Amino acid sequence: MFDVILYQPEIPPNTGNIIRLCANSGVRLHLVKPLGFSLEDKQLLRAGLDYHEFATLSVYENWAQCAERFKHRRLFALSTKNTQRYDRITYEPDDAFLFGPETRGLPTDLLETFSPERRIRLPMRPESRSLNLSNAVAVVVYEAWRQMGFENGR
Ligand SMILES: C[S@@+](CC[C@H](N)C(=O)[O-])C[C@H]1O[C@@H](n2cnc3c(N)ncnc32)[C@H](O)[C@@H]1O
Repeated sequence: MFDVILYQPEIPPNTGNIIRLCANSGVRLHLVKPLGFSLEDKQLLRAGLDYHEFATLSVYENWAQCAERFKHRRLFALSTKNTQRYDRITYEPDDAFLFGPETRGLPTDLLETFSPERRIRLPMRPESRSLNLSNAVAVVVYEAWRQMGFENGR
């Protein structure tokens, strides 16, 4: 089972879509505070979430607390600033993926704590700025799960 970490997500419908995506694909979701919304936010719930879809959701007070939880795991950071393509990695079942906030992306000092082989990007046209956060998460989760033969999917 993979893990997705959203660092200080800002926009409730994005996180709502990602909660649903993670429930559909068997991925655990982790949110690092401060969040740009409350977990009771109507816009979050408007993504049509059922109670069980919140079951594997964890929330951390700050990055240090989350980093401690993942210190023995293979963790990839996603940023438009990276150069290594996400589809050139051979993923492993316990891999975890860190995504940045919608308006700011991951802070440079946090990104720089990752070795170059753990920093990945999704290709875009040269004039493009970034993908929507929930789309970026979906692309990475489905590539990693595809490499596992969509284990436990149907
Ligand atoms: C809307 S984007 C943030 C945009 C921000 N201005 C930046 O350039 O990082 C939100 C998050 O989605 C992920 N993301 C979006 N497009 C990406 C891409 N092409 N490659 C890697 N990650 C991407 C990153 O984790 C990013 O922090």
